[in-house]
Amino acid sequence: MAQANLSVLVLHGPNLNLLGQREPGIYGSLNLAEINRLLEQEAAKLAVNIDFSQSNHEGVLVDKIHSAWGQHQGILINPGAYTHTSVAIRDAVAGVNIPTVEVHLSNVYRREEFRHHSYIAPVAVGQISGFGAQSYLLGLQALVYHLRNQTN
Ligand code: DQA
Repeated sequence: MAQANLSVLVLHGPNLNLLGQREPGIYGSLNLAEINRLLEQEAAKLAVNIDFSQSNHEGVLVDKIHSAWGQHQGILINPGAYTHTSVAIRDAVAGVNIPTVEVHLSNVYRREEFRHHSYIAPVAVGQISGFGAQSYLLGLQALVYHLRNQTN
């Protein structure tokens, strides 16, 4: 039986536009366009549609999450520093009720204490942290697996 065409929104939060030049010892040497290209290749393998957006602004990210409603079946998000501060992004994810996977390039649990808490994790399907650019690819695989196997 043919599978329904899934569409995933990838959201990159603040400072991720600086990837490649930003603390490469922590975040790696790939820039955002290169990460998006890898995601596009992975999406093609998984046979899902994918859209990308990056913003340094909390409200813009909230608007993007709202606009995913009815357009995308899943959200892959690296909320950047807003992970640790944003009730608004958490409420947006909970509000649209679109299955969401949270990803981080670095292992936030090996870093400063303030990075150990995520406002997003309790409303996400799950979280992947610490595998560099691969975190995004693993996150996309996990999200698509979840979408194709969810029973509710
Ligand atoms: C990050 C981890 C956050 O703590 C940090 O503020 C970022 C990037 C990561 O991908 O490792 O901006 O989300």
